[in-house]
Amino acid sequence: AAAEKGGYDYFMLKEIAEQPKAVADTLLGRIDAAGSLTLDEVRISASELREVDKVVIVACGTAFHAGLIAKYAIEHWTRIPCEVELASEFRYRDPILDQQTLVIAISQSGETMDTLMALRHAREQGARVLAICNTNGSTIPRESDAVLYTHAGPEVAVASTKAFLTQLVACYLVALYLGQVRGTKWGDEIHAVIRDLAHIGGDVERVLETMEPVRELARSLVHKNTVLFLGRHVGYPVALEGALKLKELAYMHAEGFAAGELKHGPIALIEDDLPVVVVVPSPRGRSVLHDKIVSNMQEIRARGARTIVIAEEGDEAVVPYADHLIRIPATPTLLQPLVATVPLQVFACELATARGNEVDQPRNLAKSVTVE
Ligand code: AGP
Repeated sequence: AAAEKGGYDYFMLKEIAEQPKAVADTLLGRIDAAGSLTLDEVRISASELREVDKVVIVACGTAFHAGLIAKYAIEHWTRIPCEVELASEFRYRDPILDQQTLVIAISQSGETMDTLMALRHAREQGARVLAICNTNGSTIPRESDAVLYTHAGPEVAVASTKAFLTQLVACYLVALYLGQVRGTKWGDEIHAVIRDLAHIGGDVERVLETMEPVRELARSLVHKNTVLFLGRHVGYPVALEGALKLKELAYMHAEGFAAGELKHGPIALIEDDLPVVVVVPSPRGRSVLHDKIVSNMQEIRARGARTIVIAEEGDEAVVPYADHLIRIPATPTLLQPLVATVPLQVFACELATARGNEVDQPRNLAKSVTVE
């Protein structure tokens, strides 16, 4: 078993470390020499993709968080309305679907019953289903019209890490491909992002090289009961994912919030020395989001929160409000989750270890949930 873990104590650590290669493998063979996407696997013709008037994403858990991020990318680059729904809720509310709806089912295992039942329901209504999946030949891709495999390699740890990052890459590819096929005003940006994606593995590698202070911080919080996570825009699903990792692994009360929602309730939770992780959007590009989160940080810090800030290299505006500062490389706004999630995985894994929990097999959880 030690050999299977490649010298790491846990599969989770091995899988976190494999992420630079995993994201590169997801891209492999899908970008041509001219920098365009060639997704032949998406066996839905270009003319049919041009007819799509709605995208609906269904998934559970971490895969659902990938879907939440995909919505921002799909709507931005394609201007097609996109809904994201928990697979377990989807078919029970009589969703509106037809032949022009593209349903994307995201699943690492390809065996999650909730997601499978959602995609069956979608196909019965005439929608086309594209699976984003990590497990070759599993049930969800077999029952879909097309599949984009994530090629992350087997994920053994119950807590999903490399599958999540590769699901994100696959979602970006679908969004960019839809944009490319349909020809939107974002043509130049789409090309630039495809170029940025090509070296994102190197950015993930750089994050991994700087994780020792994050582990140290995690160990110092071993006796805390609660950790909150805040984000805006694509940083919001990253906050949800950070909280889910901490629940699963450290069995701590952890909650993710959209930072703008703070004043609508959650700010009442802030008390002295409460750890709050803040995922800060890039100060470049949509700088209004950045400025707003800086003021959110001021608000919670004034009420005693201990801020753990994940911010882009060179972002100096956050320094006065950060009790702990975790730096990530600058990336285009929509791609930031690929680098911002990694410290949260390391953080949860180290806290679980410090609390003496079983990292690869957390209590009460199964790797794939094959019951509804
Ligand atoms: C993630 O860490 C979880 N263990 C869980 O939320 C998982 O993502 C979910 O059950 C979906 O699984 P799937 O991707 O295999 O469908």
